[in-house]
Amino acid sequence: MHKQVDTIKNNFSSSIQNCLDLETADKLRVDLLGKKGTITELLKGMKDLSIEDKKVFGPVLNQLRDNINTQIEDKITELNKAKLNKQLLAEKTDYSLPSKKRKTGSLHPITHVIYEAESIFKELGFVVAEGPEVETDFFNFEALNFPHDHPSRDMHDTFYLNTKENHLLRTHTSNVQVHVMKKMTPPIKVIMPGKVFRSDSDVSHSPVFHQIEGLYVDKKVSFAHLKATLQYFTQRFFLKDTKIRLRPSYFPFTEPSVEVDVLCVLCGGKGCGVCKQTGWLEVLGAGMVDPNVLKNVNVDPEEYSGFAFGVGVERLAMLKYGIDNIKLYYDNHAYFLEQF
Ligand code: DAH
Repeated sequence: MHKQVDTIKNNFSSSIQNCLDLETADKLRVDLLGKKGTITELLKGMKDLSIEDKKVFGPVLNQLRDNINTQIEDKITELNKAKLNKQLLAEKTDYSLPSKKRKTGSLHPITHVIYEAESIFKELGFVVAEGPEVETDFFNFEALNFPHDHPSRDMHDTFYLNTKENHLLRTHTSNVQVHVMKKMTPPIKVIMPGKVFRSDSDVSHSPVFHQIEGLYVDKKVSFAHLKATLQYFTQRFFLKDTKIRLRPSYFPFTEPSVEVDVLCVLCGGKGCGVCKQTGWLEVLGAGMVDPNVLKNVNVDPEEYSGFAFGVGVERLAMLKYGIDNIKLYYDNHAYFLEQF
């Protein structure tokens, strides 16, 4: 047994000296101390020895096992360290490289435009109001003085819902005018942003889009107030010297009604592809609130007058940011949205 222990010791001391990599160290450990390792086997054989021999060889073998175990562990630590050092020396870190940019969310251009318009109108004393997207005929059409045979009531434009009350998805934000006037007494000065729905879809139309409605009702509100308000808004929203032009138009709920153009913000009026060579861009509809509408919501048209306007948010964003396809707003591509 003494001889065996000596042989193990001698062999081990040369093996451990020659051990230059982790694999060899591990093999050494398995060969000597593994389940079927030489030292493990010797320890297993202890049970067959006489009591005297056990007393002698027990401590000898235990010491041998512990000693060899420590040396192998030390060797492994040493080899690991060397490996790491070698790796660190080989790796060159360029601390001057810019760090990875973290992506942060941003507001959708539609939301941007709504927020910006809200803040411009707030400067003029308007407050923000909201109304329902699922509507009745009364609020979307009837109270707004739409004749019963008006084409906007046609199934082709309006999404009707299969309810007993014949609900529909509002086709414009003008419905909120009715809700607001029914609830409040003048002076009323509100803007009403929101989603609207029409059964229409091509490069410049989406079945869901956004509008901002404006309404000012008070004593002696005139057309001059309307023009000044729209002039203020367009100049704050586009450019300081943005010019507007009003053209006569027709809406059932305003009289007189106008369509408002801005001098093309891209070519300055010279004519370009965006303004179709006209120099002007149509941006909103407006007018003086029709006395019939005021009557429908119990506001006395002899005492009060008002103006209203409605503007398409996608259109505003398109002109402000030069977006040429309405689908870009809804496709949710990061490369598009990240620009805002
Ligand atoms: N509701 C109209 C539309 O969707 C837009 C509009 C025109 C709103 C004139 C108004 C207005 O308040 O006075 O086409």
